[in-house]
Amino acid sequence: MDIAIIGAGNVGRALATSFARAGHSVIIASRDPEDAGAVASATRARVATSNAEAAAAAGVVVLAIPFAGAETVAAEIREGVAGKVVVDVTNRMGFGATGPTIDAGESNAERLAAWLPEAHVVKAFNTLFASHQADPIADGVQLDGFVAADDAGAKATILELVRSMGLNPVDVGPLGRAQQLEQLAFLNIALNITGNGAWQSGWKLVAAPPLPAAA
Ligand SMILES: NC(=O)c1ccc[n+]([C@@H]2O[C@H](COP(=O)([O-])OP(=O)(O)OC[C@H]3O[C@@H](n4cnc5c(N)ncnc54)[C@H](OP(=O)(O)O)[C@@H]3O)[C@@H](O)[C@H]2O)c1
Repeated sequence: MDIAIIGAGNVGRALATSFARAGHSVIIASRDPEDAGAVASATRARVATSNAEAAAAAGVVVLAIPFAGAETVAAEIREGVAGKVVVDVTNRMGFGATGPTIDAGESNAERLAAWLPEAHVVKAFNTLFASHQADPIADGVQLDGFVAADDAGAKATILELVRSMGLNPVDVGPLGRAQQLEQLAFLNIALNITGNGAWQSGWKLVAAPPLPAAA
């Protein structure tokens, strides 16, 4: 697959590593071209000079940035992603008096889909820490890669991408399920924050029903 990654932080680097290992072609963009260049040279990816250039060059576009920047980036890539697959990896949380919090509002993925009405938005990879986006095994167990999307073709593409990286693909239903995937990621994040964890824990659904799951 031809994949563009926007964002060259922990997630951009981890996914570029896994995608390249699986034989996919990666182009990466970030605000700081030096960051994108460093990830590219470590992963044999190409560097784009802008988010729009990266998005136009690939059939699958992965948003690996903080969600606070997503509306701006969506405007930059909107034209280039019409009819394409856009993967939302973002998570969200706040901090309250008793520790990490998450609201029950609309998911990041559904908000992104509203900003990119001509793209096929897919939620994936957000439940995996960057450590396990790069390495699908935790404690000797193959972790799950949960995928939520409305478009059947886009979902099939990302389920195959997940499988190619060595993760166990799990179809969790329509994009509305992104709400639960963001909550699932939050729980793991909150446990590591409150327990001073090593950020190595990951999700595995045992004896999951076969694909495709009922919505
Ligand atoms: N870290 C994890 O384990 C993990 C796991 C699952 C999901 N996520 C989610 O994945 C996303 C990225 O997390 P991360 O840990 O990789 O964050 P990070 O290390 O802070 O990296 C974010 C990257 O996005 C870039 N960026 C920010 N705004 C941008 C824009 N407008 N255009 C292009 N690039 C932009 C940043 O560039 P600058 O350096 O210039 O700001 C940086 O390269 C977040 O939404 C997070 O919730 C993280």
